[in-house]
Amino acid sequence: VDKGHGVKGLADLGLHTLPKQYIQPPEEQIINSTIVTDDSIPVIDLSNWNDPNVAEQICNAAEKWGFFQIVNHGIPIEVLENVKEATRRFFALPAEEKNKHSKDSSPSNNVRYGTSFTPKAEKALEWKDFLSLFYVSDDEAAALWPSACRNETLDFMKKSQFVIRKLLEALMKGLNVKEIDETKESLLMGSKRININYYPKCPEPELTVGVGRHSDVSTLTILLQDDIGGLYVKKLDTDAWVHVPPIDGAIVINVGDALQILSNGRYKSVEHRVIANGSRNRISVPIFVNPRPRDIIGPLAEVLESGEKPIYKQVLYSDYVKHFFRKAHDGKETVDFAK
Ligand code: SIN
Ligand code: FE2
Repeated sequence: VDKGHGVKGLADLGLHTLPKQYIQPPEEQIINSTIVTDDSIPVIDLSNWNDPNVAEQICNAAEKWGFFQIVNHGIPIEVLENVKEATRRFFALPAEEKNKHSKDSSPSNNVRYGTSFTPKAEKALEWKDFLSLFYVSDDEAAALWPSACRNETLDFMKKSQFVIRKLLEALMKGLNVKEIDETKESLLMGSKRININYYPKCPEPELTVGVGRHSDVSTLTILLQDDIGGLYVKKLDTDAWVHVPPIDGAIVINVGDALQILSNGRYKSVEHRVIANGSRNRISVPIFVNPRPRDIIGPLAEVLESGEKPIYKQVLYSDYVKHFFRKAHDGKETVDFAK
């Protein structure tokens, strides 16, 4: 089906039925899920970092939901608007242009344009195209990142650095970690990846998914979504899902597996997924804040100080990530790799 034109190439053909490679098993279709509508993830106002209540709300949200939204976060609205526009610009490029960054053509693994997630491992494909950019340096970005979105993605990454650090400081305080020294800085935010995602409007959207159930392997994920909606988060200790409503100017934050492991299970990396949309295209831009690939992650000493038993072992972060990318998006199991 995919001749290198991605899912957008299929959508542009004006199909009326979903190609069968994209038909998910019934248990993965949202119509067969329980949706909670009388509860939702917290929205936290960050206008006053000096208010101790703010740190408490962040830690509570990370424990109870693993997901929250932030408003008044200080990232200028133009930065958000510009990166959304750049995302639309990149995916609107001719297939030949985008394919210069595909797995077979890209001169570097740090830049990859693709479709679905792990097509080889998947029983059914995901209705999504993406460009994934692993940040090494500005010079490398200048040389390798597509000019259609380079400046805007870099700017979003840089302008979100302050809030990332503040969020991690608050989360660390909640774990009895007094300061983020050099070692912790590496474990918590030693590397970054920014993705731009494109979910074209889909024929028979109820039969497929935009992204299947998974949890992130990051410490934190900073997600910008547009006004379409469709991201669902699993409510902790239930089999029910809640929608993450788009809020103008807000950013969605979620805890990833690495932070769940570092916190010895206190902060929760929860399953989430994205449905396909029958009438409109959707974009999103996640920044994955990660340990460095060569870091060894395990429960932090400060967390275990009081005699708490470690529930995870020490793992090399690059091994953990490799394990994640070998599997399809079919639930949260990667974290068992650290058990
Ligand atoms: C993802 O979690 O992989 C994507 C989230 C989104 O597009 O909202
Ligand atoms: Fe995710």
